[in-house]
Amino acid sequence: MVSQTYKTKEFALSGLAGISDKTLEMHFKLYDGYVKETNRLNEKIAEILKDGKVDHEEMPAYSEFTRRLGFEYNGMVLHEYYFGNLRPKSVPEPDKGSAFRKAAEQSFGSFETWKTDFMSVGKMRGVGWALCYEDLENGRLSNHWITLHEVGNVAGFNPILVMDVWEHAFLLDYKPAERPKYIDAFFANLDWKAVEQRLRPAGRKSRAA
Ligand SMILES: [Fe+2]
Repeated sequence: MVSQTYKTKEFALSGLAGISDKTLEMHFKLYDGYVKETNRLNEKIAEILKDGKVDHEEMPAYSEFTRRLGFEYNGMVLHEYYFGNLRPKSVPEPDKGSAFRKAAEQSFGSFETWKTDFMSVGKMRGVGWALCYEDLENGRLSNHWITLHEVGNVAGFNPILVMDVWEHAFLLDYKPAERPKYIDAFFANLDWKAVEQRLRPAGRKSRAA
């Protein structure tokens, strides 16, 4: 049986422009909480399944644990994508002719239009995330709003660029109404190489493969 226990990943991330180390440290702790809670839910569900059945009395607790999986799993995984696409001393735009820029141009007509769309998704009111996905079936990029961690994710699509816009991502550095400033800072620290490495993983050419 494959182990259900997830380990908190370490991200050697500090010295970003406009996103303080204090914010990052607090954010790593929050992320660690999602890993722990994901493990805890899996343990609780495994405990119920131990006797091979989910009986009537167990059903309410089982249902609640199972419903919460979407929140905790996505809270864990999206933070890994988010930290994974940041780096210090970066540039706000990918190189001309790079794979990501080409994909954005093919999907949106121009990189600038893609960027306007992505940034505007990030500025939407509410608590959640802005995600740029790749449809593995045709290579098209599309930008999506995710409410909380789990509402709006597209099954089988490949997350390419992930931006946390919960207030905890910037509240130590900016006022709640200054989210656009945080979004500019996010772009100034984007690891475009990491983003490009996520495009079309080898051997995967369709959503369902
Ligand atoms: Fe977060």
